[in-house]
Amino acid sequence: MSYTTILVTKENGYAVVQFNRPDVLNALNMALMSELVDAFQELDKDDEVRAIVLTGNEKAFAAGADIKEMAGASAVDMLIRDQFAKWDKIRKIKKPIIAAVSGFALGGGCEVAMSCDMIVASETAKFGQPEINIGVMPGAGGTQRLTRAVGKAKAMEMVLTGGMISADEALRWGLVNRVVPVESFLSEAKALAKEIVSKSPVAVRLAKEAVLKAFDTTIEGGLEFERKNFYLLFATEDQKEGMNAFVEKRKAEWKGK
Ligand code: CAA
Repeated sequence: MSYTTILVTKENGYAVVQFNRPDVLNALNMALMSELVDAFQELDKDDEVRAIVLTGNEKAFAAGADIKEMAGASAVDMLIRDQFAKWDKIRKIKKPIIAAVSGFALGGGCEVAMSCDMIVASETAKFGQPEINIGVMPGAGGTQRLTRAVGKAKAMEMVLTGGMISADEALRWGLVNRVVPVESFLSEAKALAKEIVSKSPVAVRLAKEAVLKAFDTTIEGGLEFERKNFYLLFATEDQKEGMNAFVEKRKAEWKGK
């Protein structure tokens, strides 16, 4: 498929999706989010792809939802558009998604990064939910995902002051996986993708699903879900191969089934 607001490339076993509205710091307009979700859904079905890296450019991952597109809208317009319903679909993608963030990840940009499974940040990355500065509040998961990631006190401060935090703060607060020099944020994210691509895809899929379950279930329900996924993996050839390879002291050859 061809896209105008994003770039999609495939490398060995994973895909890289790049926001491509550099003139507006990758502001996330409806066209872009529609293309992003379509691309993710296509890649989710693509057997050549086992992980996805989502990135922007050095200056901006994304500076939020497109303010110019929303500025004149009424509440009814927003309700009918229900643009964030599209964003929700990112949560349903089964393959692991790694956000490679440099520069601004603000508002919707921070929210999209948090919808990914992991975040690799460059040392110049800045995260924030600045919606309060323009008379609104986060609308695409910020109050929920940020609070789960960094806890109530810090989320409340970020959401109510609209201030930005540095990559180091984001690391200390548990929002990102690692902080790396700006020259290598994309290559580090790709290295993480490659590492995941080297595992059994079916185990990766069920493991991702189980970790995400922790966000919307009780501990009891989550443990039960985890155990069933664990037992289910014993129906796969990859489980036999993985355990036999360990016993025979050789590298496993995954079949993905
Ligand atoms: N929407 C639309 N356009 C945006 C934008 C956004 N979110 N962020 C930046 N741009 C545009 C600017 O309008 C500007 O375009 P022009 O050259 O045509 O004027 C261009 O990108 C470059 O931006 P700046 O000149 O402002 O760059 P800067 O380096 O001086 O400042 C910044 C960078 C601090 C990130 C500043 O651009 C900014 O504050 N952006 C808005 C951040 C924001 O409020 N995000 C939240 C949006 S609402 C939201 O996301 C709701 C939700 O929950 C989903």
